[in-house]
Amino acid sequence: MCGIVGYVGIQSASETLLEGLRHLEYRGYDSAGIATVWEGELHCVRAKGKLNNLREKLERIEMPARIGIGHTRWATHGKPEECNAHPHRDQTNRVAVVQNGIIENYRELKQELQAKGYTFVSETDTEVIPHLITNLLDQMQSANELVDYTSPLTEAVRRTVNRLEGAFAIAVICKEYPDELVVARQQAPLVIGLAGGEYFCASDVPAILPYTNTVVKLENGEMATLTPLGVAISSFAGDRIIKYPHVLKGNRMTADKQGFRHYMLKEIHEQPDVVRDCLSTYLSSQSKGSPIALGLPDDLFTDLQQVQILACGTSWHASLVGKYLIEQLASLPTTVHYASEYRYAPSPLLPQTLMIGVTQSGETADTLAALEMEHKRRTQRSTEFRPRLLGITNRPESTLAQLVPHLIVTPAGIEMGVAATKTFTAQLMAFYILALDLAARRQTLTPERMEEIVVGLRHIPTQIEQVLYQQSTVIEELSHRFQETQDFIFLGRGINFPIALEGALKLKEISYIHAEGYPAGEMKHGPIALLDAKVPVLTIATPGAVYDKVLSNAQEAKARDAQLIGVAPQDEQTAELFDVLLPIPKVEEILSPILTLLPLQMLAYHIAATRGLDVDQPRNLAKSVTVE
Ligand code: F6R
Repeated sequence: MCGIVGYVGIQSASETLLEGLRHLEYRGYDSAGIATVWEGELHCVRAKGKLNNLREKLERIEMPARIGIGHTRWATHGKPEECNAHPHRDQTNRVAVVQNGIIENYRELKQELQAKGYTFVSETDTEVIPHLITNLLDQMQSANELVDYTSPLTEAVRRTVNRLEGAFAIAVICKEYPDELVVARQQAPLVIGLAGGEYFCASDVPAILPYTNTVVKLENGEMATLTPLGVAISSFAGDRIIKYPHVLKGNRMTADKQGFRHYMLKEIHEQPDVVRDCLSTYLSSQSKGSPIALGLPDDLFTDLQQVQILACGTSWHASLVGKYLIEQLASLPTTVHYASEYRYAPSPLLPQTLMIGVTQSGETADTLAALEMEHKRRTQRSTEFRPRLLGITNRPESTLAQLVPHLIVTPAGIEMGVAATKTFTAQLMAFYILALDLAARRQTLTPERMEEIVVGLRHIPTQIEQVLYQQSTVIEELSHRFQETQDFIFLGRGINFPIALEGALKLKEISYIHAEGYPAGEMKHGPIALLDAKVPVLTIATPGAVYDKVLSNAQEAKARDAQLIGVAPQDEQTAELFDVLLPIPKVEEILSPILTLLPLQMLAYHIAATRGLDVDQPRNLAKSVTVE
């Protein structure tokens, strides 16, 4: 995933673009660049690496332009070198383009353009676009083609996008049209911001929010021309489209660290409020009737026989917790698939199935493609196979939201740290309430048991605060011990097995330490061979069906000299067994994941910070993966 921004208005374009890119850097940080038009010339500055490198370069250059485009890149086609950084230009330095997404037919287009004499200087798919545009502008000009309803640049971009295959959002400027910024969207997000006399475009709203909260979202197959006098929207077919702006409501959409050293730390500490917001969004305030206020229609659930969940990464871990909850509370068979695997080996279709796509960004290509495929497969069959699609996302304006008819939106606010923390917690909350909704509809729980779980959930925010307060300093100090550690094992069982997986993923992705999450009972079937005094084993143990068994599994690791860290309630047994105990409040096992998760998030964070790593922007990653 990459981030694109564009600006036309009355302020310095380069500063506005840099500020916008700062808010989009979570989308990729292999390189960055901007292009502006000033005094009839195109000016382009690009730099390999993080945005700061570009900022430093720009400090040495005067760029008074009032129109421009910018890009922050997560490399797909071509290495993260300056030559592959956006904006890309045609060879006459006339047209500049930034793109997010992938042009699938770029090879054919490149060959065609090369045959016409165009030379390519990058390894990217994007470079075909400025060449196509300039070629079309030339053709239109030499044929003296009159385009009476639109500007030549808009028309050239329209003809160009009609030749592109794939998923893309682009922004284009041209030195001959110094007050026009043309943008287009096909399966990659693009939003336009409107402020008197100034217009913005960006892949995501945080880039625009410092200037305006009045926005228009482009849909697939739509394009727009932004000038200082306004915005004209049309379809790729050339039809004019009338759209009305809407005003974004403020929530924790801030891209500010608010005094924390990293976004990730701030986002970990936002979790009590995220859970509070989930509770007030998903639960009814009425004292009578069902406590659930998800607002999902009855026909989504009628005669339901199974649930299938599709997700990737951390969202997949949340879905595993969801499976546990739906099966245990609502007695409904549930399967969880990696979307990337499911696309190429889907299960045989069973009737009366609820498909849930879980993606915090709402943009993960594999999850969207798997859901689309499932929708197609099911529409071709009889009514009992009709697609029942539900999405769980943190981004109500995302592509997922357009793909599925029903959504549970997680009110976590924007997450800037690349490693998911608060959005994972919000996904867990969505699954708790969905499982309770299903249980109520299927009458698998008594009203008293429902009430007991709801009351337990209402206590979670203060319990999170307690864990964060008690353990922040302890874990920070502990992290020094593991600075040089090479391998880590995380053990959990039942509902806490996915938390072990999540703890291992957090550690891997931000500290680059090899880590494995394992179901505690499976240790002895192989991985125990890895253990010695150099390998820390973090065990999650909460009182419940398998408490003693998990403690025995930890004992087995201790007997192999492993350093034992326990995430468990404090009692005599745990205090004696574990070398280090990170205590959590005593709660019912089914409610424990949001609490057991916290020490794991903090441990990963502090180990990475102690190692001096870039916690918010770990190497090779991007916030969401919009390519297959
Ligand atoms: C890990 C992480 C990733 C994402 C995965 C799916 O911290 O953030 O594993 O969970 O890329 O992303 P979404 O949820 O946006 O589909």
